[in-house]
Amino acid sequence: MIKDIVKNLKPSSTLRINEISQALELEGKKVFKFGFGQSPFQVPDEVVDELKNNAYQNKYLPMQGLPKLRNVIAKHITNIKKYNYKDNNVIIGPGTKELMFLLNILFDGDILLPVPSWVSYEPQAILGRNKIHWIVTKRENNWFPTGEEIEKIILKGRGKKYLLFLNSPNNPSGQICDNLKEISLIAKKYDILILSDEIYSELSFEKNFKSIANYYPEKTIISTGLSKWCGAGGWRLGYFVMSESLNQLRDSLKVLASETFSSVSAPIQYAAIAAYNNDHSEYINNSKNILKAVGEYVYNNLKSNNIIINKPQGGFYLMPEFVNKNFSSSDEMCSDILKKTGVALLPGSDFGFSKNKMIVRLSFTDFDGHTFMKSVLDTENIDDNLISKFAPNIVDGVNKLKKWSESS
Ligand SMILES: Cc1ncc(COP(=O)(O)O)c(C=O)c1O
Repeated sequence: MIKDIVKNLKPSSTLRINEISQALELEGKKVFKFGFGQSPFQVPDEVVDELKNNAYQNKYLPMQGLPKLRNVIAKHITNIKKYNYKDNNVIIGPGTKELMFLLNILFDGDILLPVPSWVSYEPQAILGRNKIHWIVTKRENNWFPTGEEIEKIILKGRGKKYLLFLNSPNNPSGQICDNLKEISLIAKKYDILILSDEIYSELSFEKNFKSIANYYPEKTIISTGLSKWCGAGGWRLGYFVMSESLNQLRDSLKVLASETFSSVSAPIQYAAIAAYNNDHSEYINNSKNILKAVGEYVYNNLKSNNIIINKPQGGFYLMPEFVNKNFSSSDEMCSDILKKTGVALLPGSDFGFSKNKMIVRLSFTDFDGHTFMKSVLDTENIDDNLISKFAPNIVDGVNKLKKWSESS
């Protein structure tokens, strides 16, 4: 009674990793939670207060989202992007994941996915019955596609419509795309629609995050929300912002929204106004300071002759490759690491890499962000002593992983 298209979706390796983790914990063993990635920080107090103040809001809201919230989001995005977005260019959803799923349902064409890509892009494209083209990328290009690599695929299927997913800062690689202009020129040339997944953009370690929307606003959908920078993944609020030339697409999304989730929870939308109206630069800078320091600690202490990694540039992740290991799959390697060291990681095969590539995603969020942030508010240089004190699991897990990489 279940459709083949759903039955055939392979369960994510996360489930296997979780099962082994639980078994280890039941045996009383320590598990380092480097597999799952979510913000280690708390939602800012005044945003939580706004949620409390608005708990009484019990009416359905407009399916496109609360006008005042769309207005503050349009202003916020306009400030960063310098393109004049209006409230009508914004659509609010219960997390960007749901909006991306609806985009896959309405889009009539082929999907371009760079390797690596976030775990949900592929299954969502399959459920939308869209053909997927994987674009193999290179470490030296920060794991992002070049214009030429995109064009090569387009030239094989001329006349088709394409939707490219671009995610910078990237989950899983932790890298930022630095060839946006080149990609935008190819996108313009072939009229490619771009989903620019910017959910980690506020957590870019360097200033001046650039979006492909700066070069190609006409066919770029900016996708972001509260989940990462505001520590509010469980609140489920995300949004798309797009220019007038995508009004038809926006209207179709509205129809799908009205037939599925109706509108996002009203108290959450009211609270989100405070998230965008108030200045949270201090909170964001403190979060970034800690994430950068912890990410660089992991990078500096893991990279070796046995492990190649690119230095993290934003978000929660980095992507080590074990060059002297030879398991039948990266999944198998992750199981071995977990059993022998207690370090949980996700295999690169979940992100589109060939299973023979001994590459993994490491999430460096296994620490109590609230205590860490409170304790280092005036500290510019977060050194190894502070990391040992406030992120002991990171230090111990990295040591164990390094030792494992040196074993034969
Ligand atoms: C790259 C990427 N895009 C999108 C999402 C989904 O975010 P949301 O909470 O807005 O659905 C995540 C969350 O894990 C992510 O890592």
